[in-house]
Amino acid sequence: MASYIGTPTSRIDGLAKVTGAAKYAGEIEAPNLAYGSVVASTVAKGRIVSIDMSQALNVSGVIAVLTHKNRPPMARTDRAYMDDIAPERGSPFRPLYDDKIRFSRQPIALVLAEDEETARYAASLVRVDYEEEAHDTDLHRQRDGAKAIKTPPKPRGKADKALSTAEVRHQGEYYIPPEHHNPMELFASTVIWNEDGKLTLYDKTQGVQNVQRYICNIFNMDADDVRVVSPYVGGAFGSGLRPQYQAALAVLAARALRRSVRLVLRRQQMYTLGFRPGTIERLALGARSDGTLDAITHEAIATTSRYEDFARNDTGWSGALYKCANTKYSHKLAKLDLATPCDMRAPGAASGVYALECAMDELAVALKLDPLQLRIRNYSELEQNDNVPYTSKQLRECYRQGAEAFGWDKRKAEPRSMRDGRELVGWGMATGVWEALQMKTAARITLTANGHAEVACATSDIGTGTYTIMAQVAADMLGLPLDSISIKLGDSSLPQSPVEGGSWMAASVSHAIAVTAEAVRKQLFNLASKIPGSPLGDARLDDVSLVEGKIVSRRDPGRAVSIADAMRSGGIDRIEQEKFTNFKDDSRHARNTHSAVFAEVKIDEQIGVIRVTRVVSAVAAGRILNTKTAHSQIMGSVVWGIGMALHEETLLDHNFGRIMNASLGEYHVPVNADVHDIKVIFVDEQDDIINPLGIKGVGEIGIVGVAAAIANAVYHATGKRIRDLPITLDKLQL
Ligand code: MOS
Repeated sequence: MASYIGTPTSRIDGLAKVTGAAKYAGEIEAPNLAYGSVVASTVAKGRIVSIDMSQALNVSGVIAVLTHKNRPPMARTDRAYMDDIAPERGSPFRPLYDDKIRFSRQPIALVLAEDEETARYAASLVRVDYEEEAHDTDLHRQRDGAKAIKTPPKPRGKADKALSTAEVRHQGEYYIPPEHHNPMELFASTVIWNEDGKLTLYDKTQGVQNVQRYICNIFNMDADDVRVVSPYVGGAFGSGLRPQYQAALAVLAARALRRSVRLVLRRQQMYTLGFRPGTIERLALGARSDGTLDAITHEAIATTSRYEDFARNDTGWSGALYKCANTKYSHKLAKLDLATPCDMRAPGAASGVYALECAMDELAVALKLDPLQLRIRNYSELEQNDNVPYTSKQLRECYRQGAEAFGWDKRKAEPRSMRDGRELVGWGMATGVWEALQMKTAARITLTANGHAEVACATSDIGTGTYTIMAQVAADMLGLPLDSISIKLGDSSLPQSPVEGGSWMAASVSHAIAVTAEAVRKQLFNLASKIPGSPLGDARLDDVSLVEGKIVSRRDPGRAVSIADAMRSGGIDRIEQEKFTNFKDDSRHARNTHSAVFAEVKIDEQIGVIRVTRVVSAVAAGRILNTKTAHSQIMGSVVWGIGMALHEETLLDHNFGRIMNASLGEYHVPVNADVHDIKVIFVDEQDDIINPLGIKGVGEIGIVGVAAAIANAVYHATGKRIRDLPITLDKLQL
């Protein structure tokens, strides 16, 4: 049987994207649009005393200036502002709600005008008086006041005692700075106002139904009154999981003006949203002299805002990844006068595993053991935090295939022992781990007599390739060619979907499609078997498959009924089925993806310039639905890992409590010249337990471990250990 699942398939939305036919939230055309521009607070903490909008209102073309004083009503309870992804504890930010300033560049007014340039110019004329309060945005200054939260897994054994008696120890403190998502597409909303007060909100988001619920809750509207649409998303990486303030402001404005409104954030304003929290990670490892781990303690001190407790699992990976009898974790939050942090690709793991994997490298040095050997010596077949086996775990094979592709066996152990002309050469490695989650998701299939199927689900495609994998799965399940499938997604009116995040969407939506296709097969079989003299008259449901537009007997492929004939006999021209899949909560297994990352750096000995010349990432992530888009996911993540290691850092001026480098000119991300050879290997990993198709999902796994592999390579090249990211020339000082 022809199979699309597993084949390298180009994006079915690729042509629309490269030709510009794909329209994004900020470019939807509508008659009589008003344009918004956000006025931002210039202080980090305090309250607004007065806003003088007279000059702005005098500009020709300005329609209105909205503030907390004159806006339409909004909900008064925290509950109303808590979207699906909101932290459990806290009081979510409410845009233009009151006079309180919680972070620098907080939106405090919205200027609306007949065109974007006028709105922007007029926004610069709004004058605000503040009553300032003392602020603190410095994690290092607040670290001692950080409060422990309950999130980390339970300890086991006696970690402190095992550490004190260990034959070899390593302790270290690692720092991951705050980092901002920099998707190509700016956050944007276009609200289409209908005379009956109903709205269509074109929004940049990872979850249309999450945004729909949020908007309904904060403006006291019915689900029927708000449709949220987001067919294309130009990258988000977690920044679009929670509804962002431009969506609320655009709806607020449309309701105030009774008119359609567009609001696009500027690049600088993208730095007023959530971010990867700056985190201090303290690791202590104890081992016997043969390299057997005996103690791990991992403490994270992470940034959150004053008004919400944002926390992810940074530390628990440490006691899960390697066999170790005595482990202890703690996660503390330091409240700073910043916006609440949010998820950024592999939240928690990207930071915590960076620290763990650097610490393991340092322990290997102390033990005089090859760092790969140290990992293999402490390999764990069980997830020890919960003491359960994995649904599948081919990490050992990742190590083997990754090392072989990289040529790890030619590594000389001694730092500064490898060079290439004027450049020092360093080889480092690290392990990566992420979750293989799956969420309740629905799909609708509409199959017409001509053999075309439309498959619909409210999920987003944030650029990962969801359109394409949905079509591949549907084509296989329905026995139709790929180009007979069309996909509808990114619309709150479609069947239920969670936000697209956590790398859970591929497994979730694929199974929603599979169970729905099964219902279609059943209905077709019933129709086919009722045809007088049907070749499938004595067949049973279990005996037939959908192949090449027909319902076919598995025992005798000569016996078949076409989809068209089956529908004709039933007097119908289409079949529509909608089902959802709910995954069983299996607490007897751990579900994870794994990777082994190998990196080569070359460092100019005089200047200290670091080049990441090679990366090999070997990934075990169950069945890979589309080796082409999955490869792109991992390659993109590796590039981001290079950025995390060498470039990315949101810099704060603590005097003003303000981000200093809020632009792509000064917030550095890797460019083409920084990216060299990246090899991605997908290790075979059959998984019969996790779900019927054996899918785990990729994306986030690609970044975990990359920065550590590079940091370890830098040490190997130079003999200098830099624990604070990013590793810049000033820190290296050769
Ligand atoms: Mo991802 S950080 O869950 O979008």
